[in-house]
Amino acid sequence: MTKRVIDADAILNQSRPVAHQNAPEIQPFGHLVKLPIALAENACKESVENLNQLLADTITLRDLYKKHHWQVAGPTFYLLHLLFDKHYEQQNELVDKIAERIQLLGGVSLAMAHDVAETTMIPRPPKGREEVPVQVSRLLHAHEIVLKEARTMARRAADAGDDGTNDLLVSDVIRSNELQVWFVAEHVVEMPLVHAV
Ligand SMILES: [Fe+2]
Repeated sequence: MTKRVIDADAILNQSRPVAHQNAPEIQPFGHLVKLPIALAENACKESVENLNQLLADTITLRDLYKKHHWQVAGPTFYLLHLLFDKHYEQQNELVDKIAERIQLLGGVSLAMAHDVAETTMIPRPPKGREEVPVQVSRLLHAHEIVLKEARTMARRAADAGDDGTNDLLVSDVIRSNELQVWFVAEHVVEMPLVHAV
C-alpha cells in the first residue's frame, strides 16, 4: 500500500513542468558555428554581420509601417491604412528570410527590440501621430537606407562567393523595397482630384 503512494508521487513529479531553468548560452552573439555548406568561414562571417545590420533596419521599417497603419489620418485613411499593413506583412516575410539566412550561415540573428534599436540606422520617429506627408517621407527615407546597404551587401556577397545571400538581397530585399517605394511615393505627387489643371 505504501509503495503505491510513493509510485504515484514519483509519477506526479515527472508530470510537473520544470520551469525557471537557466544555463549559459549555447552560442554567444557574434560567434560563428560553421555548417557544412561549402562556403568559406570568412564569407559566412561577413554575410552574417551585414545581414544583422539589414535585419535591424528591416525590423524597424516593418514596425514603422505598423505604426503608420495604426496612426494614419485624413481623406486617404482607408487606402493608406490597408497599404501600410500590406507592406508590413511583406517586410515581416523579409525579416524571417534574413534572420533564417543568418542562422544557416552559422551566425546568431538579432531578435529583441532593444538590440534592434541599438543597431538600426533608421532615425527614431516620435511616439505621437504625424501627418501623411511626414509618414510617407519617413518610410521613403527608411527604404532608401535599406536599399543602399542591400545593394552594397549584395555586391560583397557575390564577390565572396555567397550566391545565396546575393540572391536573397537582390531577388527579395531589393526588389520588394523598390516596389514598395513606388507604391508609397506616388501618394506624395501633387495631382488634382476633381478638376484637371
Ligand atoms: Fe490592423
